Amino acid sequence: MTTEGCFVSRQFSTANFFNYDSDRMIDLRSDTLTTPTEEMRQAMANAVVGDDVYGEDATINLLQQTVADIFGKERGLFVPSGTMGNQICIAIQTQSADEIIADADAHVFHYENAAAAVIARVQISGIQTTNGEFAMEELERNMRPPAYYYPRVGLITVENTHLRHGGLPLSSDYLRSLRKFADARNIPIHCDGARMWNALEESDVTSVEMGAFFDTISVCLSKGLGAPVGSVIVGTSQNMDKALRVRKMLGGGMRQAGILAAAGLYGLQHIRPLLTTDHANARQFAVGLSGINGVAIDLDRVKTNIVMFSVRGLPDDVLLAKMLENGVRLAPIKPGVMRAVFYHQISSEQCAAAVEGIRKSVES
Ligand SMILES: Cc1ncc(COP(=O)(O)O)c(C=O)c1O
Repeated sequence: MTTEGCFVSRQFSTANFFNYDSDRMIDLRSDTLTTPTEEMRQAMANAVVGDDVYGEDATINLLQQTVADIFGKERGLFVPSGTMGNQICIAIQTQSADEIIADADAHVFHYENAAAAVIARVQISGIQTTNGEFAMEELERNMRPPAYYYPRVGLITVENTHLRHGGLPLSSDYLRSLRKFADARNIPIHCDGARMWNALEESDVTSVEMGAFFDTISVCLSKGLGAPVGSVIVGTSQNMDKALRVRKMLGGGMRQAGILAAAGLYGLQHIRPLLTTDHANARQFAVGLSGINGVAIDLDRVKTNIVMFSVRGLPDDVLLAKMLENGVRLAPIKPGVMRAVFYHQISSEQCAAAVEGIRKSVES
């Protein structure tokens, strides 16, 4: 980068705004903070590309088929974001005025700007859960009778792993029962698998078995896998034909986007194997925090790369400012609950340093 470039980015960086040393800061706000490595950038630069609106980008085609094969699905479709992936999958499997079932803490419910109401024109019925798994009786209660004045339940959505439940993966026993429940009522299931790669690390089923639990899955390349952009949705060929139309309608048809798909393929091959280390780092961090007076943390809920904890007696803004002073940047996931997310560019040494930074913030 030129000196001018450095000056410009420093001037506008949030690091400068908060007046901290960004080089030493351990930033655990999200696994979306990953930046492409030198090798990933090389893979992007060398990608064979074509016009994907004509279906002629070889790297995108390879990525789509690779991800579809991982989950035993007929086809995949590259989309710019997880949000677009979820919304396309909702739109192609519902009719206007349907109701869809989601966890009350789901990303599709909280963080997608009511997009399902605007794009698919459906309403979401949010069911409270403690871990992203619906109690079957509760799900049954939410199935509306087939009267003309009730909305039709068109789709069940789940999130694996579940962000607002601290990265908990859904159990295969639960997913088996859910599939049975949905099949008996002829309702499709969509999985927001933004962190499906993390879920698979902790699962006792293969990725193809996991794929069979769902009609459609949206997986992100831009979180733990470290790509700068992109998600892939998978499903039947018929569903992907419909998805292609909706993606175009939403302006998500891209041209020589093989340079982005190459980053995803690189992430799948080279960064996916590092997810186990992220999970180990999250655990190391969580165990460290559990030894700090004033920190409340449930170690049983630390299963993947996300750690949630609370600090007694310190308002969020004070705690965040103190942690920043001590070299740790975090964000609350809800009032009074901090979230730390681990990714391949956070080392085990940084985890230990982050624990010490938080100890100083809480105990001083
Ligand atoms: C669980 C979950 N689903 C979907 C998304 C949306 O992904 P994107 O930011 O690529 O739209 C995110 C993003 O953080 C997420 O955490």
